[in-house]
Amino acid sequence: MSSKKIIIANWKQNGSLKSLRSLTSQIIKALKLKSISHSVVILPPYVYLPILAEQVLSNKKIRNLSIGVQNVSAFSDGAYTGEVSFEMCKDFGSKYFLVGHSERRQILSESDVLISNKVSRLLNHNKKVILCVGETLAERNKKLDKSVISKQLISALGSLSSKSKIKTNNIIIAYEPIWAIGSGKSASSEDIYNTHSYIKKKLNMILKPCKILPKVIYGGSVNNTNSKEILSIDGVDGTLVGGASLNAKKFIEICSSI
Ligand code: PGA
Repeated sequence: MSSKKIIIANWKQNGSLKSLRSLTSQIIKALKLKSISHSVVILPPYVYLPILAEQVLSNKKIRNLSIGVQNVSAFSDGAYTGEVSFEMCKDFGSKYFLVGHSERRQILSESDVLISNKVSRLLNHNKKVILCVGETLAERNKKLDKSVISKQLISALGSLSSKSKIKTNNIIIAYEPIWAIGSGKSASSEDIYNTHSYIKKKLNMILKPCKILPKVIYGGSVNNTNSKEILSIDGVDGTLVGGASLNAKKFIEICSSI
C-alpha cells in the first residue's frame, strides 16, 4: 500500500455558497504554495458540488485535491424522490462517496442493509467508497466496540457479489467512534492503534483474496493540534475531519502535518 495519507473534509450540512467557495479557494491556494504530500478530499453538501467541483477541477496543476459527496443513493435512476445517484455526482466530478456515516445511521435511520446496498453498487461500478464504522459510548463501555465494528464491516462488505472483481483500493474504512465525533475529545492513540489493527485484520478475512488492503482512516475530533500525533500512529492511513475542516487555517494545518 502506498504510504500516502488521505485527509478528508466532511463539511456536513454547513456553510453557504460564499463561505464554501472561499474555503475551497484557500485550500487550493495552500496546496499550490505548500508542499503537501497527502491526498486531500473535500465533501461539500450536494447542492454546492457543481460549483465547487469546477473550482477544484479547473486547477489542473493541483493533483492531490479531489471532491466527493457525503451520501449517495443505493439505486440506479428512477422513482426515488429526493435521492441522488453516483452517476449524477460523477457528472460533476465527484470521485469519492461517503457511506454509512453515524449521523445517517442514527439520525436518518439508515440500516445496515441500505448501507450494504450502497457499498455494493459503488464497488460494482468501480467507484471509491469511504465506509464509516464505529461504536457508541454505551457499546464501548460494555466492551462491545469490536463486535459492533465487525458486524458493520461484515454487513457492508461480506456479501459483495464478485469479490475477485472488486478493487479493494476503492475502499477506505473510516473508523469514527461515535462518542468522539464533535465532542472535542478524540480517541487515545492506543485505542486508535488497537482498533485500526483489528479492522485491518478483519478486512483481510472478509475481503479474501485481497492484494491491496483498504486504507483505514480515523475520524472524531481531529484538529490541528492532535492531527500530527494521530497521523503518525502505525496503521492510520489518514483522517476524516468534520468541525475543524470548516476552518481554512486549521484544515490546512491538518493537511500539512506529517
Ligand atoms: P468531527 O466530525 O471532526 O467534527 O468530530 C468528524 C465526522 O463526523 O466525520
